[in-house]
Amino acid sequence: MTDHKENVRELITAGGKTPLCFLHSFGCRQNVSDGEKILGSLCSIGYGVTDDITAADLIIYNTCAVREGAELKVYSLVGNLKNLKKKKPELIIGLCGCMAQQEKTVEKIKRSYPYVDMVFGTFALEKLPELLYKVLTERKQAVDINEYSTGFPEDIRPVRTDKFNASIPIMYGCNNFCSYCIVPYVRGRERSRRPEAVINEVKELVGSGCKEIMLLGQNVNSYGSTLEDKINFSGLLRMINDIEGDFRVRFMSSHPKDATNELIDTIIDCDKICKHLHLPLQSGSDRILSAMNRKYTSGKYMEIVDHARSRIPDFSFSTDIIIGFPNETAEDFADTMKIVRQVKYDNIFSFIYSKRTGTKAADMEDATSDEEKRSRMKELLEVQREISSEGFRRFIGRTLTVLFDSDDGDGMFSGKSDEFIIVKAEADSSVIGKVKKVRITKSFNWALQGEII
Ligand code: 5AD
Ligand code: SF4
Repeated sequence: MTDHKENVRELITAGGKTPLCFLHSFGCRQNVSDGEKILGSLCSIGYGVTDDITAADLIIYNTCAVREGAELKVYSLVGNLKNLKKKKPELIIGLCGCMAQQEKTVEKIKRSYPYVDMVFGTFALEKLPELLYKVLTERKQAVDINEYSTGFPEDIRPVRTDKFNASIPIMYGCNNFCSYCIVPYVRGRERSRRPEAVINEVKELVGSGCKEIMLLGQNVNSYGSTLEDKINFSGLLRMINDIEGDFRVRFMSSHPKDATNELIDTIIDCDKICKHLHLPLQSGSDRILSAMNRKYTSGKYMEIVDHARSRIPDFSFSTDIIIGFPNETAEDFADTMKIVRQVKYDNIFSFIYSKRTGTKAADMEDATSDEEKRSRMKELLEVQREISSEGFRRFIGRTLTVLFDSDDGDGMFSGKSDEFIIVKAEADSSVIGKVKKVRITKSFNWALQGEII
């Protein structure tokens, strides 16, 4: 078998210098995590990493396809690279990730951006050395958007950008086919990693000083369904909770159709699991939820929330909401606002519906005007601002656990609490990467402030 890695290493280091790569990941944590694997693969070949795009010998954009805006941004950035490539003909440009997985993207790149050297999809991470070898030896566009087996790039060690905060994918792909969503088409069918692989990775990270681990999957609540091991997501959480060390665990995303009381009880019972659940509602209208193929009703959603709140009255929830799904009426939107007011989320990520070619919803008629959608978005944001600023006040006088990760200047530092809320406090730079108890003294509508105890 050809050893593409060794061959590429010889080619790129022939001049005696370490070649540099620049990678930017768009989109969700899963994509960022893939980006860490791609960097891992490149470093194992012999590349160094740079943040300076003009110094790079290899530029890779790891793209997102979930909304049109993300795609347009990438085309504009790739367009900007044309001049750089002219000045530096040896520069290699690559496009990968969810957007690259689509046939229509490959066609557009071939047609309009011929100077892009590589296009590879979400299944081809392990093929990167082979693709680079092709580009370096044949100097023509290399494309790989095949859907390889059921695989998981288990053998690539990621290069992590954050020492204290790490993401671990526990599963790949998605089987849910929500009618608006492109993900099942670009990331293939759901497959779970073996629990031992996940546990070993957690142990290794904790051993090297990591304080927070985010478990990733499109729907973590169906973890294990493709495995022979008799394990579900709650079982995995309990195994991780039993690992010794000073760290905390989060996860995303949870599909409400598979969220159970067992999951809520596990979160509450396990001391290392953050008492917060990101539970994408998408819409509060049962009619829209059905058209979205979400397979739950607003009633079933509220049962999960009510169970959590029966055990911890102010259990923290955040959510994703899509505004303006095809033919969303004023009544549908009012149903969404009703749930928003009832749940009192600590945080909402809201998006205006974006039509994705190839999905079921792309063929649905839509009579709602863009202006109406923007006005609904504005209303949602305004109401949510009030809810979170009122909700955040409940923390004043209480002590929260915060992992500090950023220097805001003027002696102020910030990090996230267990509840996934930004907390600011006066400190010095030694606080970065440390978990501290903070007594909350002030609340804003987007963050809290307090004193480190
Ligand atoms: N349009 C707008 N938002 C979308 N999302 C997924 N697909 C679309 C789309 N076509 C949102 C959902 C999802 C989040 C990651 O992105 O709210 O939970
Ligand atoms: Fe992540 Fe989905 Fe965007 Fe892909 S399309 S990067 S899975 S949000």
